[in-house]
Amino acid sequence: MIQPAPNDQPHVMKTYGRLPIALTHGQGCRAWDTEGREYLDALGGIAVNTLGHAHPRLVAALQDQVAKLIHTSNYVHIPLQQELAARLCELSGMSNAFFCNSGLEANEAALKIARKFGHDRGNTEPEIMVFERAFHGRSLATLSATANPKIHAGFGPLVGGFVRVPLNDLAAVEKALHEHPRITAIFLETIQGEGGVNPARVEFLQGLRELCDRHDKLLMLDEVQCGIGRTGKWFAHQWAGVVPDVMPLAKGLGSGVPIGAVVCGPRAATVLQPGNHGTTFGGNPLAMRAGVETLRIMTEDGLLAHAESVGAQMKAELERELGAVPGVKDIRGQGLMLGVELDRPCGALLAHACEAGLLISVTADSVIRLVPPLVMTHEEAHEVVARLAPLVRAFLQATDAPPAAAPAPSSAHTSADTSAPAKATA
Ligand SMILES: Cc1ncc(COP(=O)(O)O)c(C=O)c1O
Repeated sequence: MIQPAPNDQPHVMKTYGRLPIALTHGQGCRAWDTEGREYLDALGGIAVNTLGHAHPRLVAALQDQVAKLIHTSNYVHIPLQQELAARLCELSGMSNAFFCNSGLEANEAALKIARKFGHDRGNTEPEIMVFERAFHGRSLATLSATANPKIHAGFGPLVGGFVRVPLNDLAAVEKALHEHPRITAIFLETIQGEGGVNPARVEFLQGLRELCDRHDKLLMLDEVQCGIGRTGKWFAHQWAGVVPDVMPLAKGLGSGVPIGAVVCGPRAATVLQPGNHGTTFGGNPLAMRAGVETLRIMTEDGLLAHAESVGAQMKAELERELGAVPGVKDIRGQGLMLGVELDRPCGALLAHACEAGLLISVTADSVIRLVPPLVMTHEEAHEVVARLAPLVRAFLQATDAPPAAAPAPSSAHTSADTSAPAKATA
């Protein structure tokens, strides 16, 4: 049994429930803790460590950059910003990028673009359509765009101006657009991550694109978690053949170095003008070099096709090992963004996995999420399933199934009725 470290970090604010280990170093998809125990990393720093740990080419590039220039300021030109922006535009078919430091900052910039897009058209009280089970970050605006009441709790009053509808329900979107003419943008994760690995369907994304074109709205796709090659394409929406107007990125873009970007197409790229937005650290040379080198190494090493094939293998093995196990509700996701949904809360599995030398996560209470580095080998993917499946089976045997759901009341307007769009804010 792993024991909590004796020094429980008394001066660090307790904002996280942490596993009782501390990692000291890593290599590829393996990491080691202070006691010398080895872990297979199927979490990748929560979909961040694209190239795994200590990738030799990334390490060399970052060492080179640190020795030259870590930070300047945005008072001066930063050529690496142009290099990374050009590459992101080439890969996405979009036209301009703004750089920041995290996912929530990228989303915050997107929300400001959506509002200003409205103001520029004389809409001084713009609204933004968001979705059930969405997660967009923990600043006041992005937590207000997030659907999870646990994340709202204690932080009201929330930022207003959000209209929430169910995911993958085009009729609900059309209805909300009709009822809320001040909506300027539709904002969603292409694959919801924290909400439980819930993909927006291809036809839904295509329908949203068509509606946004028809009604002069911005389509804003949060690819903070699912983007940067994780699904086997550079950006998950590319499976649907659509191009958004605004695309926030972060996590995997710097392979571990903090970075965020909001990439815009022509309809959104000039909305923010000098003085409208900025950041001290955003786009600094170290972060930009991490982004440039991450994309370069991904391209050179064919990591998109690799992620697709390793992910397909992992999903097939999960289905074979767990698909028929009572208590396993669904196995879903694409590439190396996979979720195994159980019929009961399963946060306790994190500690069991950790003891078995496996790093994973649980989202939406009951979904085991696997978002490993994209360099994970086929053998390692097999090992992940070989370690995880017995833990899941044992957990399901040792815990009680939830009580059967009560029969639905006959009224059409129950709290489970998600067909009507509702204001996100009270
Ligand atoms: C889809 C999505 N958007 C935004 C965020 C927020 O990113 P950050 O934690 O870097 O602020 C996350 C983080 O999990 C995310 O998954």
